Amino acid sequence: MKILRGVALVLPLLVLAIPAWAAGPDVNALLQQNGCMSCHSVSDKLVGPSFKQVAQRYDGKAGAKSMLAKKIINGGNGHWNDLTGGMVMPPHPDMTSVEANAVAAWVLSQK
Ligand code: HEC
Repeated sequence: MKILRGVALVLPLLVLAIPAWAAGPDVNALLQQNGCMSCHSVSDKLVGPSFKQVAQRYDGKAGAKSMLAKKIINGGNGHWNDLTGGMVMPPHPDMTSVEANAVAAWVLSQK
C-alpha cells in the first residue's frame, strides 16, 4: 500500500515536470506571475516601453539578450527615460537566470 501511494504521489509530479523541462520556462506564465503586463504590453507603451519597441531597439545587437535578462532580474532605468520620464523598472529577484533569459529571448522576438 505504501509503495502504491508513493507511486500515486510521484507520477503526477513527473507528468507535470517533464513537459516543463522539455519546453523550457513558460514565458506567458512568467509574464503573468511577475506582473510584467501591468507595466508592459506587446504593442503599446504603458508604464514601460512596449515589447515591440524593445525588440526593435535591440534588433541584431550582440549581448542584448543577457543584458535584458539582467535588467529583468535587477531592475533599473536609464534606457527609456525619453519615453517614460525616468520611471524605474522594479527588480524581480525571484526569477532565475534561465527564466529571465527565456523571457528576454521572447521579448526580442516581438519585433
Ligand atoms: C512597475 C512597472 C514595471 C514592471 C512591473 C515591469 N517593468 Fe519592465 N520596464 C519598466 C520601465 C519603466 C522600463 C524602462 C526602464 C529604462 O528606462 O531603462 C522597463 C523596461 C523593460 C525592458 C527594457 C529594458 C532595457 O534596458 O531596455 C524589458 C525587457 C522589460 N522592462 C521587461 C519586463 C519584464 C519581463 C517584467 C516582468 C518580470 C517587467 N518588465 C516588469 C516598468 C516595469
